[in-house]
Amino acid sequence: MKILFIGDVFASIGREMIDIYLPKLKQKYNIDVVIANVENATHGKGLNKRHYEEFVFQGISLMTMGNHTFAKKELFDYIDEADRLVVPYNQPQALPGVGSREMTIQGKRIRVTNLLGITFMDGKAQNPFEAIDDVLKEDTSDIHIVDFHAEATSEKIALGYYLDGQVSAVLGTHTHVTTADEKILPKGTAYQSDVGMTGPYESVIGCDKDAIIKRMKMGIMTPFQVAESVGQLRATLLTFDEKNKCTDIQRICIDPDHHF
Ligand SMILES: [Fe+2]
Repeated sequence: MKILFIGDVFASIGREMIDIYLPKLKQKYNIDVVIANVENATHGKGLNKRHYEEFVFQGISLMTMGNHTFAKKELFDYIDEADRLVVPYNQPQALPGVGSREMTIQGKRIRVTNLLGITFMDGKAQNPFEAIDDVLKEDTSDIHIVDFHAEATSEKIALGYYLDGQVSAVLGTHTHVTTADEKILPKGTAYQSDVGMTGPYESVIGCDKDAIIKRMKMGIMTPFQVAESVGQLRATLLTFDEKNKCTDIQRICIDPDHHF
């Protein structure tokens, strides 16, 4: 079985990259399941219903979120019907949504769990190590993918080793920069610190670079602006054998410097 995990889809150019390349990727790699982090899919923050439905139409089986889950308030209106959406399991308990979901695809029970990191984040999430222990008590899936939406690589690597042998893969999101540390850990869990962003290529993690430089150089809080640029796609391809063991993890980069 081949599972493609698409990294943080950012704004219209990110959605366009999926539109153009997902059918080609499916064909080239014989992909069975597509998962995507879509917390920034609508104008760079949050997810509206129209874009959620577009992703369903494009064949994305499960969608994960992160620290911007509720940036578009309309999510509160459709979250109960959004049965492909996985929000951070360790978000504040008063917030709605499902943090770990199982879906049967080609006879395999695929579980996806979304977790937020707590290091250098806004401090509102519960401890992700304790949260995933809760999920694992109930988990009987064949393949379990954890999207760890976190800032610090150290926290991500630590969770990867903590879960080694207990889940199928720990894939990082949130920093928008692909890390070249994809590997299979000693007890069989596939790991990568960050899958990277599917969005504007010439940008500072998706935002207009000049506005961010001004902000950083002069301390002026410039308004949030999505960069206008050609697109890039970042994804990670996981291959599983018939015993549900991950046998391969591969980075996929498409942009003007990495042609499809
Ligand atoms: Fe994020």
